[in-house]
Amino acid sequence: MDFNQIIDRHDTGSVKWDFIERHFGDGAAKLLPMWVSDFDFTCPPVVQQALHQRVDHGIFGYSERPQAYFDALIAWSAARHQLTVKQEWVCSVEGVVPGLSLLVQMLSHPGDGIVVQGPYYGSFAKVINLNGRRLLENPLREEGDAGYRMDLEQLEALFRAERPPLMILCNPHNPTGRCWSKEELQQLLALCEKHDVIVISDEIWADLLLPDETFTSVLHLHERWHNRVIAATSASKTFGLSSLRISNFLIPDPALRDAFMRRLDAHGLDVFNALSVQAATAAWEEGGPWLDELLAYLAENRRWFEEQAAAHLPWARITPAQGTYLLWIDCHQLNLDDEQLKWVMADIAGIAPSMGCGFGPGGSGFIRLNLGCPRTYLEKALEGLKRI
Ligand SMILES: Cc1ncc(COP(=O)(O)O)c(C=O)c1O
Repeated sequence: MDFNQIIDRHDTGSVKWDFIERHFGDGAAKLLPMWVSDFDFTCPPVVQQALHQRVDHGIFGYSERPQAYFDALIAWSAARHQLTVKQEWVCSVEGVVPGLSLLVQMLSHPGDGIVVQGPYYGSFAKVINLNGRRLLENPLREEGDAGYRMDLEQLEALFRAERPPLMILCNPHNPTGRCWSKEELQQLLALCEKHDVIVISDEIWADLLLPDETFTSVLHLHERWHNRVIAATSASKTFGLSSLRISNFLIPDPALRDAFMRRLDAHGLDVFNALSVQAATAAWEEGGPWLDELLAYLAENRRWFEEQAAAHLPWARITPAQGTYLLWIDCHQLNLDDEQLKWVMADIAGIAPSMGCGFGPGGSGFIRLNLGCPRTYLEKALEGLKRI
C-alpha cells in the first residue's frame, strides 16, 4: 500500500477538507488541514472490493448484521487484543458519540455530574452538557517523560463530593495518545466499585497502537467489574470508515444491555446500514495486513516529526504517546493565548490544527496535529511551523 500517495479529498463532503472554513473562518480553505481525526489514505482495498460487491448487488432493503459480522468482530478482538468478546454483549449503534449520548440519557439524570479526564475529546463535553448533565473534570497530571497520568486521589475526592453515576473514560486517550496500563485501570475500577460509578470506556482508538505497545480494555479486567463497564469500539477509526457509521457497545451486564437495547429500539435504531456492515466485516476479516502496514507508516511519521521538531521547533514540547495518530504539542513557550496561537498557526504556519482549548481547560496552550497523512503533508506543516 502506498501511503505516500496524495489523494485530493476536496468536493467529497469531507468535514476536514471541505468544511474547514466553518471552523477556522473565511480564507481557511488555503490552510493545510491537520485537525479532524480521520486520515487522508484510502481504506483497505479488500474493503473497497467488498463495498463494490455489495453495491453491485443493487438491493438495499432493511438489513440486520449477519453472523459474519459478529464472527469477524470476535475473531479480530481475540487476534489483535487477546480479548474474549461474547456475541450477546454486542450492541451496535450508528456511532460511538451517538451511543454515548444514549447511554448518558439512560444511566444518569438531568443535573447529574459525569466525570471525564481532561484534556478531553470535545464530543464528551457535548454529550454531557447538551443532555443537561454537568461535566466533572478530573484533570490528568503531566509527569515529564512519563506523559499523562490519572490523578486517582483527586478522582476519589470528586466521587465523594459529587456522587456521579457515570464516568466516560478514553483509552487510548484522545488527545494525548496515552494507553492506560492494566494497573491504572484496575485502580480506577476499584474506585468506581467503591463509589458505585459505571464506566463507559471509549476504545475507538484501540487498534491504532505504536510499535510494541499493547492495549488493555476494561473488558480485560476482572469479571467482577463486568457489571459496571461498557466498552465502545468501531472499525471506523482503524480503517478510515468514519462516514459509514457503525460502532459497537460491548455490554457484559445483562440488565444494562437489555435496557440499552430497549432504548435503541425506542429510537428505531434496530436496523443497520448494509454498506457499513459489509465494510466493517471485510475490514476485520481481511484488513489485518493492511493495518500492520499503516501502523508502520504512522509510527515512522511520528518518529520523523518528533526528530524534526526536536531539531527545529524549540518551543514545541511533544507529549509521549503509546497510541493514536495524534500529536499533542505543548506550545506554552510561545507565550500566546489561544486566540493568538490559532492565528499564528493559520497565518504564519499555514496549518489548521485542532486547538487544544477545544479539549477543555487542560488543553489551553496546546495544539493537536493529525499525523494520519502522507509524509509530504507533514513536511509542509513542518516548514510552516519553522516560520513561527
Ligand atoms: C475518542 C473518540 N471517540 C469517538 C469518536 C467518534 O466516534 P463516532 O464517529 O463513531 O461517533 C472519536 C473521533 O475522533 C474519538 O476520538
